[in-house]
Amino acid sequence: MAGATAGRTYSGPVLFAFVRHDSPWPMTARPILIDTDPGQDDAVAILLALASPELDVTAITAVAGNVPLPLTSANARKVCELAGRPDIAVHAGCDRPIRQPLVTAEHVHGKTGLDGADLRAPEMPLQEKGGVEAIIDLAREVEGLTICALGPLTNVATALTRAPDIASKIREIVLMGGAYFEVGNITPAAEFNIFVDPDAAKMVFASGCKITVLPLDVTHKVLVTPGRIAAFREMETRIGDAIADWTGFFERFDKEKYGSDGAPLHDPCVIGYLLWPELFSGRHINVEIETASELTRGMTVADWWGVTDRPANATFIGDVDAEAFFLRMTDRLTRL
Ligand code: RIB
Ligand code: CA
Repeated sequence: MAGATAGRTYSGPVLFAFVRHDSPWPMTARPILIDTDPGQDDAVAILLALASPELDVTAITAVAGNVPLPLTSANARKVCELAGRPDIAVHAGCDRPIRQPLVTAEHVHGKTGLDGADLRAPEMPLQEKGGVEAIIDLAREVEGLTICALGPLTNVATALTRAPDIASKIREIVLMGGAYFEVGNITPAAEFNIFVDPDAAKMVFASGCKITVLPLDVTHKVLVTPGRIAAFREMETRIGDAIADWTGFFERFDKEKYGSDGAPLHDPCVIGYLLWPELFSGRHINVEIETASELTRGMTVADWWGVTDRPANATFIGDVDAEAFFLRMTDRLTRL
């Protein structure tokens, strides 16, 4: 089937064939649960997942993070309705971290969490079932569920604590969080998602689940430059305009702090990794979480150079082909 495969032509039996990202081949969609604290970048990640037939979004669970839980659970529904998917089950999870007081990020995302684009209040209902219960039930019911964690890990850790059996049922936890070379964005030592609930992160990294980490080292390379904002505008759709408005709003934090050429699209990297892993590279290493020190609370101590004998517990992504990612993401979002 022309165009269906790339890779070398062999005279003998096909040893392997790379399925291109735009393969017309029928496929079984990978079931995922998105745990999120929308957040403009979370919103783009949710839209990318809903635009991708390779993924089956079984549910969305909201967690307190960028803004308090009532807002993150409303924002998740606003995004589903923007995508024309009021059928998606959205559950409200934990409204505060396991031990620490809640720290939010209105200074980055605005007081609604989705400042920049004006979306109406959601009409679709919030599910009765809580987010933690939804994670437990779906991990038990859905074969090979992947959890995409885009916010503090409070819901995920609470589910693993309440139902340890799900650790062996979850296919993979792909999370945006942490940093190595990039160190921190909320403190000099820590990235926001891990900082907000370091105890939850410690539990998740010790759970035995297969974990893949998209840290700031990757997401700070995926910047929404003016040209990329223009590409969203050129989609000439409500979704393209919303993304351009959102990223145009929340870029000011990173531009002022880092002098960067646009907002880092943190959370879409999680979905992009699932869709196009060939664009990312990393190492399987040990990652520990600092929970005791006030000075370095939430630091991801990533043994990138293997200087300890601590066992590897995560695939820590270090690089991405950002241009290819943006081209594919923009193309994919036009399909919504
Ligand atoms: O540090 C970036 C992360 O914190 C992103 O997930 C952003 O949405 C916030 O949750
Ligand atoms: Ca987030």
